[in-house]
Amino acid sequence: MNKLDLCKKAIDATTYSYSPYSNCKVGAALLTKSGKVYTGCNIENASFSATICAERVAFSKAVSEGEKDFEAIAVVGKIDNNIKVFTPCGVCRQVMTEFCDGDFKIFVVTGENSFNEYTLSQLLPNSFALKEK
Ligand code: THU
Repeated sequence: MNKLDLCKKAIDATTYSYSPYSNCKVGAALLTKSGKVYTGCNIENASFSATICAERVAFSKAVSEGEKDFEAIAVVGKIDNNIKVFTPCGVCRQVMTEFCDGDFKIFVVTGENSFNEYTLSQLLPNSFALKEK
């Protein structure tokens, strides 16, 4: 799957964002090493701390179906249907660290046909982990 197609799946994944409190629609598309894509959107809650980010929804869907090997994730945020640059939050970076190596790729969508590319080790250097990878 090419990078821009993964970004487009993240944009599509904003469709079902449940975000009545922030009005930020976030979408994520997580690519496994075997080529499958799991999407996610943010799901907010009146008790704000119960909100779950789009990235963690995608990881939860994938891990709960037995996936363990991940290649890349694309993430997009939209406010009033305009793309805003939403780089994954710290909690999501930590969740990525649980399942991914430092070279895991993160595409932050910046427009309909553009994105910034990072590795997980760039976004969360010297990360905390308990298990050997
Ligand atoms: N959000 C995500 O979905 N992913 C992130 O990495 C950062 C924030 C969501 C949570 C909340 O629903 C909204 O964006 C505003 O914080």
